[in-house]
Amino acid sequence: DGVFDERRRRGGERTAQDVVESGMDVGLGTGSTTAWAVAEIGRLLREGELEDVRGVATSLQSHELAKETGIPLVNLDEVTELDVTIDGADQYSEEEPTVIKGGGGAHAREKIIDAMADRLVIATDEEKATDPLDYPVPVEVMPDAREVVAEDLRDVGGDPELRMAERKDGPLFTANGNLVIDCDFGGLDDTSGTARDIEQIPGVLEHGIFLDMVDDVYLGTEDDVETVSF
Ligand code: A5P
Repeated sequence: DGVFDERRRRGGERTAQDVVESGMDVGLGTGSTTAWAVAEIGRLLREGELEDVRGVATSLQSHELAKETGIPLVNLDEVTELDVTIDGADQYSEEEPTVIKGGGGAHAREKIIDAMADRLVIATDEEKATDPLDYPVPVEVMPDAREVVAEDLRDVGGDPELRMAERKDGPLFTANGNLVIDCDFGGLDDTSGTARDIEQIPGVLEHGIFLDMVDDVYLGTEDDVETVSF
């Protein structure tokens, strides 16, 4: 995993250096790649290369990291617009400005904060590009609606699986007290159609298809960082 970690580090740090400017309100994504971006914003602030930057965290994980590295934080309910959000992805496409997120179960809050930003920049590595997207779509559901939602997901062509907790006997609960169903649709030939199908199911709180939201992807490669812009 060390190789991938280097790529993610490169992608995360470069994203922070390129897209964050003094005075900006910045959405702080979740995951191992964004963690490098958050640490880099903190460093740039400490060294005086950036000033007046405020962060809004997409999860408890990014909240803690931002606090540790010294980025002043604002609550989600204190702002309605952000200059930029830097977030990770479980899979991205080089053909459409859409990513699949939610591998960490934080996608409901991430989608709000990603959508609030004038510019959404995905920090990732070259290994996660796929076309068409085929990562099982994380779907956050109300706990006691899990069976009926799973049935409805099967009806629209998915293969649903309740996400289990690690090192604990039972399902994973999100920060919002809900469950996550990972739903495999195979290759998504009609991403917007699948997103719409999932949204129409009662009991679904949010899903991990971030449709037409991405402005740029920064991807760490073996020895550099490449960008894809939409
Ligand atoms: C969290 O819910 C996810 O959307 C993450 O952003 C995603 O899993 C990316 O994480 P890594 O950068 O660790 O791969």
